[in-house]
Amino acid sequence: MSRLSRRALPAVAVSGLALPALAQPRYPDRTITVIVPFAAGGPTDTVARLVAEGMGRSLGGTVVVENVGGAGGTLGAQRTAQARPDGYTVLVHHIGMATIPTLYRRLAYDPVNGFEPVGLITEVPMTLVAKRNIEANNLQELIALVRRQRDRINLANAGVGAASHLCGLLFQSALQVPLTTVPYRGTAPAMNDLVAGTVDLMCDQTTNTTEQIRAGTIRAFALTTENRVSALPDVPTAREAGLPNFEVSVWHGLYAPRNTPREIVSRLSTALQAALSDQNLIRRFNDLGTEPVAQDKATSEAHRAFWQADIARWRPIIQAAGQYAD
Ligand code: MLT
Repeated sequence: MSRLSRRALPAVAVSGLALPALAQPRYPDRTITVIVPFAAGGPTDTVARLVAEGMGRSLGGTVVVENVGGAGGTLGAQRTAQARPDGYTVLVHHIGMATIPTLYRRLAYDPVNGFEPVGLITEVPMTLVAKRNIEANNLQELIALVRRQRDRINLANAGVGAASHLCGLLFQSALQVPLTTVPYRGTAPAMNDLVAGTVDLMCDQTTNTTEQIRAGTIRAFALTTENRVSALPDVPTAREAGLPNFEVSVWHGLYAPRNTPREIVSRLSTALQAALSDQNLIRRFNDLGTEPVAQDKATSEAHRAFWQADIARWRPIIQAAGQYAD
């Protein structure tokens, strides 16, 4: 018996009447909201909107995106964890779901048990980028500039817990140079300021930087992955450019609030798998330097295992750094 029909059982038994079989409520019978915990137009938003479109087609319903940015992605996560677990509010979040449980020691929601994982979505490389007129032609020159002007050069990010924050920390730690950081509600508004030249540097996902790099509105110095990506063939990996130990990529997943009925989580996983196999989505992901996960990773079980392992991977790193958000 499904969880959806179980609630109706006592009334039927007490009445003793032979009632017609109870109709299963149709799911979805209204709009599903995908919460994005960062600003509109940024990398998480881009991934979520592509996925939402395909899921809507597969579910035969409307799926909209709502941006609830701020506090490094914790506000949108909190909104989801506290939503009714009925399948009408879900969350697209990234690697922050693995770091936030350790980084934030005081949260108004449970960052681990507050959610049902639905499936993994993608893993995105990051790029170290700078304003167009930065006085450096390659990564080594950029490093020399940062060392020389450490008091003047700043680094934009999307708040503590954001991927850009994490990547920026890795960069500072690789150079052993602390920089002033400028937090935004997401890297979309940070990108506007980088293009305008009011901030100097950012480490951000290819899903947000590729088009700007190609247009020449910002400069790319390194990719944070082991291999180059075909979307940005001229951008060297950090290792190639002489900065080993500067590797990180950003995985994304779909979540429902804890206690969402299993049948609904399973419907959402199936819709996610359909969205990720859509050729338009694959082309768009490829064009932005990424690709969808394999179908067997877009499941609740694979997502849970991966997420838990990543929480365990980051916990000692964050604890050793002693850097908390509170
Ligand atoms: C991040 O740095 O975590 C992301 O770029 C956030 C975003 O989608 O803006």
